[in-house]
Amino acid sequence: MKEIQRRKFLKTTLLGSVASLFTSSLQARVITPSEMEGPFYPITPQKDQDADLTKVAGKTGLAQGEIIEVFGQVLDQELNPVEDVSIDLWQANSFGRYHHPHDTNEAPLDENFQAWAILQSGAEGHYSFKTVIPGAYPISTSRQRTPHIHFKISKKGYESLLTQMYFPNQELNDQDVLFNRKSVEQQAMMTAKTTSKNNKYQYNIIIDKL
Ligand SMILES: [Fe+2]
Repeated sequence: MKEIQRRKFLKTTLLGSVASLFTSSLQARVITPSEMEGPFYPITPQKDQDADLTKVAGKTGLAQGEIIEVFGQVLDQELNPVEDVSIDLWQANSFGRYHHPHDTNEAPLDENFQAWAILQSGAEGHYSFKTVIPGAYPISTSRQRTPHIHFKISKKGYESLLTQMYFPNQELNDQDVLFNRKSVEQQAMMTAKTTSKNNKYQYNIIIDKL
């Protein structure tokens, strides 16, 4: 091999190794970013915690707002599905009010909105739930939280994950204090994807093995 060719070969091989190291270290870190729990984790006991948040057991009405379905898979960092994961989720109603005694927002409560669900991932780590797009809510005189859903994910043998799911194409995303502390890559992982079906959003959750 001529000297120039040899150098070129070595350079390419070395760069290749560095690139694959970089890729594998990136892959090892690709888990859903965590976020703070916030002050409104539900504290009022609630029997109805099923996957349809648009109805409350014993009531005939329907939650107000834009009804959507969120579906996805829980995966480990090697993208293997994780079954029987506890998915505890809560959110503001379509007016931006939490069903929580400490929420002082004057927006109305919605007695037909379930607000809280505890689900389990099933076969191949799949889960889904029906809800409404949560409203934005004020956190100071000049700032609002963009629409989001809180998630608490747990399973024995895995790192617990507290996070918040965002929606694409929400004007307030650009101004949201928490969302904007995340990198562009983290924001992408925390934002549900639109699908070809109206009002259906996909959100995969990646958790870390202990
Ligand atoms: Fe919140």
